[in-house]
Amino acid sequence: MSSSNLKVDVNQNGDVKNAADTLDDINDIDFSKLLEKPRPLNIERLRSLDERSLTELSGSPQLRNADNASRAHDHADSYVFSPSVGRRSGFNTPRSVHGFESHPMVGEAWDALRRSMVYFRGQPVGTIAAVDNSEEKLNYDQVFVRDFVPSALAFLMNGEPDIVRNFLLKTLRLQSWEKKIDRFQLGEGVMPASFKVFHDPVRNHETLIADFGESAIGRVAPVDSGFWWIILLRAYTKSTGDSSLADMPECQKGIRLILSLCLSEGFDTFPTLLCADGCCMIDRRMGVYGYPIEIQALFFMALRCALLVLKHDGEGKEMVEQIVKRLHALSYHMRSYFWLDLKQLNDIYRYKTEEYSHTAVNKFNVIPDSLPEWIFDFMPSHGGFFIGNVSPAKMDFRWFALGNCIAILSSMATPEQSTAIMDLIESRWEELVGEMPLKVCYPAIESHEWRIVTGCDPKNTRWSYHNGGSWPVLLWLLTAACIKTGRPQIARRAIEVAEARLHKDNWPEYYDGKLGRYVGKQSRKCQTWSIAGYLVAKMMLEDPSHVGMVALEEDKQMKPVMRRSNSWTC
Ligand code: GLC
Repeated sequence: MSSSNLKVDVNQNGDVKNAADTLDDINDIDFSKLLEKPRPLNIERLRSLDERSLTELSGSPQLRNADNASRAHDHADSYVFSPSVGRRSGFNTPRSVHGFESHPMVGEAWDALRRSMVYFRGQPVGTIAAVDNSEEKLNYDQVFVRDFVPSALAFLMNGEPDIVRNFLLKTLRLQSWEKKIDRFQLGEGVMPASFKVFHDPVRNHETLIADFGESAIGRVAPVDSGFWWIILLRAYTKSTGDSSLADMPECQKGIRLILSLCLSEGFDTFPTLLCADGCCMIDRRMGVYGYPIEIQALFFMALRCALLVLKHDGEGKEMVEQIVKRLHALSYHMRSYFWLDLKQLNDIYRYKTEEYSHTAVNKFNVIPDSLPEWIFDFMPSHGGFFIGNVSPAKMDFRWFALGNCIAILSSMATPEQSTAIMDLIESRWEELVGEMPLKVCYPAIESHEWRIVTGCDPKNTRWSYHNGGSWPVLLWLLTAACIKTGRPQIARRAIEVAEARLHKDNWPEYYDGKLGRYVGKQSRKCQTWSIAGYLVAKMMLEDPSHVGMVALEEDKQMKPVMRRSNSWTC
């Protein structure tokens, strides 16, 4: 790595520091605050902000009062929710507390997860994307923010929060770097896609090198990283009951910077977030530009998590008001326009076009002829899902797993919609789970469409990688969604399917084929998030209270929307 790749940091006084100096500053953060003991066990389940309504919060007196009380409740709650706090097992593979016998793969997975840990100046700060020396590394030797999330959850569930806290603090410092692509400067709040530890053998010194999109293939900034960071900060706080990390002024500022990027006013006519292709887990051109479901669901979840960890005073209060407004608009928009079930599909099929004015039913002027053939067979009688994208005259009907699972976990989906998503997964088991959970999206795009949409991407040929490939990491999201909707048996079935192959195949990154039968053609082995995703799924099934770290209750005041449709107009 050439020294020109090292970033510089411009502080508020305009002083420029080199990366190494900047990283020394990380140690200036008052760590003593973080050492404060968590509060004692709270037996009574307190009413958390998760359960407080946004409407309740939008009134200013409540905003004031909601502040510390409700934030504290969310944290105190964690003791009731997450018994793992009391069973720290150090660096051992966790043993079951409920007499549930671990699969032999669990021990292997823990060993592999530990091998992936990355240290910076003696402290664990993350996990490497893949410990696979057989392939060209590209950037798989980096700590990816999104990839670290399942690792972090596994560590939290096992009572090892230190690596998660270090990760949150290190990435927070990286956020303050000046980020440039050619001569263009990125927003202050952008979080890196990934970072790596660079060891300078001459100075015998370690520094961090981060990628905000300026090195990434396609040069796209990761919109999801900041959202995952906020979601993880809340999971850490919930799991440990320690709010001192989130309360640090640096963390509060970090949250505000991330959200300022998304909440600023502009030309938008929708509350959803406009994105470039490849700005999330699907980080290559796949026709997910516009308003991809993955980002909208993560945005919603991050906004709700921010409400729980932001101090509702001073600068925080103004942001809280903005968040509450946006959540109302976003949930309405998503539940109304992204939701598809048999009835809605039939309505779209019969849409009139070229309507003008407020009375329009087909607001985005979707032409029924643009409905793809496959959707008519795919849609079960019972069930539904949030489609991939909605923008003027464009509906991407593809199913995307991550967005739909996060929609359930964040309660962006109503309880009925959540049930319907699970119904759909059950009815379309072969298509979505097949021989390896879970399809990242369905169906694959092929032939001419593949050429146009992906730009002839040889990595994303049909039923491979992002184009209909099966990604074991998604198992943790599926399991969490299953538990939240009271359908753990679905997760059990999926885990059994994965257990038949994952370890034997050495934890591939993804599988190919309509049924996910083949190890992906360019799939890395020993892919850390495949390993961590499996562990998290197992631990959540064993102790469903862990789901509280990544799930938010429905806001009772957010009523399901009444949609106007042509069938009601006669
Ligand atoms: C691939 C995936 C991306 C992941 C990265 C590291 O680029 O598309 O989502 O973060 O690999 O595993």
